[in-house]
Amino acid sequence: MNLVVRPATEDDCKLVFDWANEPEVRNASFHSEKIEWPEHTSWFLQKLKNPNSLILIFEVDGSSAGQIRFDKNIDEDFFLISFLIDKKFRGNSLGKDLIAKGIDYLVTKMPTPLLCVGFVKKDNIASQRAFLKNEFQLVSESDVSLKFEKTIL
Ligand SMILES: CC(C)(COP(=O)(O)OP(=O)(O)OC[C@H]1O[C@@H](n2cnc3c(N)ncnc32)[C@H](O)[C@@H]1OP(=O)(O)O)[C@@H](O)C(=O)NCCC(=O)NCCS
Repeated sequence: MNLVVRPATEDDCKLVFDWANEPEVRNASFHSEKIEWPEHTSWFLQKLKNPNSLILIFEVDGSSAGQIRFDKNIDEDFFLISFLIDKKFRGNSLGKDLIAKGIDYLVTKMPTPLLCVGFVKKDNIASQRAFLKNEFQLVSESDVSLKFEKTIL
């Protein structure tokens, strides 16, 4: 399998919208309500312009198979990770490859060392596995979520 990431463009607006509204993705999110198209387009175009955000599309043998986003928290100096795998591509542990490829790309654009952080709902085992397989550490937990961190040198 050929696995690559590429930066998202305006042409990916609908693809990212459909992924974001897929029920399992909404369920995994900390804001689970449906996303409306006008709200999505303005959010997406702002993200593309924002130098502190990076949206990458994951391609498996040339097909769009997922997405990872890094949002820099300026005050606390870390990159918050959000990611998903398209429903058709789930069940093959591609989430761990997506995170690995995404970080490989991020370090070509941002100075290291950098801290990556992921918050995962406690019932989202597949996502927890993807972070742990990338050697993220579980650093804290709340009633509903786990916090994973990794420093990239
Ligand atoms: C999270 C997500 C990206 C993972 O996709 P994936 O890599 O295809 O996940 P898989 O189903 O292959 O599962 C990954 C691993 O977790 C394991 N796993 C999944 N569900 C499990 C469960 N209920 N109990 C135990 N293990 C489980 C799998 O066996 C696999 O283990 P392995 O890597 O050791 O083989 C995908 O489910 C997704 O896009 N979900 C919606 C969005 C989301 O949750 N994003 C993350 C938000 S923090």
